[in-house]
Amino acid sequence: MAHFRPAGLAILAVTLLYLAQSTAVTPSDPFDVQEATIESIHNALFTRFTTCRDVVSSFIARIEEFNPTINAIIALNPEALSIADELDARISTGNITGPLFCIPVLLKDNYDTVGMATTGGCRGLAGNMPGADAPSVVALKNAGAIILGKTNLHELALEGLSVSSLGGQTINPYDHTRTPGGSSGGTSAAIAASFAVLGTGTDTVNSMRSPASANSLFSFRPTRGLISRSGVIPVSYTQDALGPMARTLDDLAVALAVMAGVGYDSADNATALAPPEVRARYRDHPTSLFSPQLEDMRFGLLDGFFNHTASPETTPVNEVMGNIVSRLTAAGATVVNISEAIFNAPAISATLDVQTYEYREFLDAYLARPNASGTHRPASFNELYTSGNFLVIPSQHTYIKTAFRSSSGDASYFTAQRGIQHLTEALAATFASNDLDAIIYPEQKNLVVKLGSASQSGRNGILAALTGSPVVTIPAGFSAPTIDAPLGVPIGMEILGQPWSEDLLLDIARHISELVPVRRMPKFSSKMVEPRAYESVPVIRPNMDNIPSAYPLGVV
Ligand SMILES: *[C@@H]1O[C@H](CO)[C@@H](O)[C@H](O)[C@H]1NC(C)=O
Ligand SMILES: *[C@@H]1O[C@H](CO)[C@@H](O)[C@H](O)[C@H]1NC(C)=O
Ligand SMILES: *[C@@H]1O[C@H](CO)[C@@H](O)[C@H](O)[C@H]1NC(C)=O
Ligand SMILES: *[C@@H]1O[C@H](CO)[C@@H](O)[C@H](O)[C@H]1NC(C)=O
Ligand SMILES: *[C@@H]1O[C@H](CO)[C@@H](O)[C@H](O)[C@H]1NC(C)=O
Repeated sequence: MAHFRPAGLAILAVTLLYLAQSTAVTPSDPFDVQEATIESIHNALFTRFTTCRDVVSSFIARIEEFNPTINAIIALNPEALSIADELDARISTGNITGPLFCIPVLLKDNYDTVGMATTGGCRGLAGNMPGADAPSVVALKNAGAIILGKTNLHELALEGLSVSSLGGQTINPYDHTRTPGGSSGGTSAAIAASFAVLGTGTDTVNSMRSPASANSLFSFRPTRGLISRSGVIPVSYTQDALGPMARTLDDLAVALAVMAGVGYDSADNATALAPPEVRARYRDHPTSLFSPQLEDMRFGLLDGFFNHTASPETTPVNEVMGNIVSRLTAAGATVVNISEAIFNAPAISATLDVQTYEYREFLDAYLARPNASGTHRPASFNELYTSGNFLVIPSQHTYIKTAFRSSSGDASYFTAQRGIQHLTEALAATFASNDLDAIIYPEQKNLVVKLGSASQSGRNGILAALTGSPVVTIPAGFSAPTIDAPLGVPIGMEILGQPWSEDLLLDIARHISELVPVRRMPKFSSKMVEPRAYESVPVIRPNMDNIPSAYPLGVV
């Protein structure tokens, strides 16, 4: 089973076939982009059932219709329709290249993108106009993707509530009383509601996995060094990662391969850690080489990553994970109970999280980078966080105060780094001694928190963030439906692997999601919106007036 198809070649072959066999058909029904995939869009485009302009227009129409409810978008790309027209012209001449040809992608608004502001959701960075695309964005564009716009995030990716001074509060599409997780909550809410095919996120502790989990989506946090992080507003050299978020595993795998295709980037020296054969695999249109069966697999279940106290917020998570474990066991897989005391997420966070040592230095470097441009940009961390033009939630005030004075030269930073090394070795030993293929646990011990909460509590992302391990997050289930959550609240699980085991993790994720198919689209937006005849891309303004009163602006 090939997850990483040589997509560019396949598209070309399919296209030539279609172009040879068919003249343009006049569709009787417009193409519905709800839950659209790369494959469904390519089929519709290359049979002339639809046009790239109509695909982009359809997603824009959905955004106009549904974004006021969930407030996931910060800005649309004014060039999106003219790029679609260029791609339509290329379809008519048969010049179709790239696995993401005409695939609309939404970027978290911390990815540098030429022609649009890159704000991190922070009012102080509203005028930050990058002079160059992030290399990961270049890779997406080179693969044919259309950057449709930028999504809201928890401001500067520092927490998981997805509220920001420039983007307001993003709302969970499955339960409008809850947050979408975060920090990549704008991307997840948008992709869940079919505002685009793919989105991007960043993850310093939980930030792709929590929003994927809370929105019935797939995300991939790659092995540290697989995808260059340069050109993305940083938080932590040790912990930051970036990657794709999608509604299907196939789409996730294609986007991961495209982003990993950047390869070695001198601007992010962690990319030098990728073994040459890994770099070569992503460079040369990778194909998955093996497809083990579930009955041959061994999974470690991290007992310390559950909250066993019964409550309406924790019990649904424990039941959903219990169901996954019994389905795995019934399918012949072995699930090993891992109860070593070291695997305790809050304890690991409290002692080994190194963000506050690194944040100021790396944000300073980002703000001073040679290709920065734009107006009224703060020149440094200090200038930003004394400007008043930001939102830091009260539970993060200590974090920012600490970041003002901590640095990667501190003795305690080295102690923490030694602890991270120890944790990484302990994790490798757990894999080896139990002969594990992967480790599984819920992303969050409880349902994603309500709007206005003090923090996104109960998340388990720290283990992968510190050890640099790859994780695919997949939908695992839903809580019981309620009036607020007509389908229930989505619950996701992490599948954590050893370094560079991306292919194996995608195989495992595929087996589990075939065994327990879970992804559903949110009810509030599950209707077709007719594409409109846009002359230009409409301006979408985020709602900055829905910020919960518990989060005053400009205070640390
Ligand atoms: C196909 O389109 C690309 C992008 O516009 C262009 O660079 C290339 O020259 C085109 N190739 C052909 C054969 O027209
Ligand atoms: C940054 O700007 C310089 C000077 O304009 C240019 O040579 C360089 O290619 C740019 N870097 C990137 C990553 O685009
Ligand atoms: C790698 O890059 C980081 C961040 O720029 C820097 O602090 C570190 O010294 C670099 N390491 C090496 C070996 O160059
Ligand atoms: C576990 O869940 C209970 C019930 O929701 C909650 O009161 C408690 O704070 C949670 N414990 C931890 C460590 O998250
Ligand atoms: C896993 O082991 C721990 C510690 O022995 C125990 O408390 C827990 O009940 C076990 N979990 C399962 C699912 O067996």
